[in-house]
Amino acid sequence: MATQSLTLNNGHKMPLVGLGSWQVTSPEECKDTIRAALDAGYRHIDTAYAYHNEAFIGEVLQEYFKAGKLRREDIFVTTKLWVTYHEKDRVPLCIVESLKKLQLDYVDMYLIHLPVGLRETGKGEPFPLDENDKPAFQDVLLTDTWKGMEQVARSGQAKSIGVSNFNMEQTERICKIAEILPATNQVECHLYLQQEKLFQFLKEKGITVTAYSPLGSPTRPAHMLKEGAPRVLDDPVAKDLATKYKRSVGQILLRYLVQRGMIVIPKSSNPSRILENVKVFDFELSGEDMSKLSAQDKKLRFLTFLEFKGHSEYPFDEPL
Ligand SMILES: NC(=O)c1ccc[n+]([C@@H]2O[C@H](COP(=O)([O-])OP(=O)(O)OC[C@H]3O[C@@H](n4cnc5c(N)ncnc54)[C@H](OP(=O)(O)O)[C@@H]3O)[C@@H](O)[C@H]2O)c1
Repeated sequence: MATQSLTLNNGHKMPLVGLGSWQVTSPEECKDTIRAALDAGYRHIDTAYAYHNEAFIGEVLQEYFKAGKLRREDIFVTTKLWVTYHEKDRVPLCIVESLKKLQLDYVDMYLIHLPVGLRETGKGEPFPLDENDKPAFQDVLLTDTWKGMEQVARSGQAKSIGVSNFNMEQTERICKIAEILPATNQVECHLYLQQEKLFQFLKEKGITVTAYSPLGSPTRPAHMLKEGAPRVLDDPVAKDLATKYKRSVGQILLRYLVQRGMIVIPKSSNPSRILENVKVFDFELSGEDMSKLSAQDKKLRFLTFLEFKGHSEYPFDEPL
């Protein structure tokens, strides 16, 4: 089943449902997951330099290209610039590494993964520490990093560029100097963190929202799981609607976001849930049910990236 797309501010199309791949790091699991998603009709994959799975994704894409099952132009691939590459001259180095692993000439979307930078200490570590064993925070002007991103877009290595985990003020700063506007801001967004204010702000600027952790990231790492935190997938209103529409709770949660006009990137490694998550285009939630879901917002952020708290660009101090 083909997924529907939306048109970005640069005219490129982006499929509304993509496969998330965070924490899918074992080679066989990752390859089987990507195959299951492509076979289920996914035409959008979300990865990142930091997910350590670009090479496995690249292998499967090659397999499908060579078998004639897929053409490059049929698949939308997003990857992300890691925080140790924020200096303008280092931005192109990171995408070159990603493209090599993905075995692609270009990605469809390249995002600044986080607005906070860390200083490369020469050891190539993903999370470098300073002499005092504290995160090696680095203050690179985000506008400089954006200039590096524009260079990547001009070189043809990314069809579209954007940001992730940027708050309104940070996005505004980029928009003020941008020659190429961000096409999307990828942020945590689900029933309990609906991001309506950010969504409307970005909409006015012609920037889309890509909702990450759209199912509430139930298997996020232990240090991000607070005891007693509510699970989006157990929400009583979503459960009632699942019964009413004869759909799964996951489908209701994803349809809600898509119907608001967002792109969603649910992660699953389970073939039947992979298939289920992409089947959200053959039903519509009524206006009344959309309002019931909207009333469930708790402004609850699960992915707080506290390891970056104290950095001058830590994004989540802005009121929701
Ligand atoms: N830019 C960023 O900083 C950032 C941060 C976080 C995430 N992301 C992106 O967003 C993607 C999705 O977010 P996420 O991985 O945090 O969480 P998520 O998609 O909200 O949830 C994934 C979890 O839900 C389960 N699941 C999937 N479909 C389901 C269904 N229909 N019913 C019940 N359970 C279901 C999965 O288990 P099974 O695999 O067993 O199905 C998995 O444990 C990531 O993979 C990544 O690509 C980006």
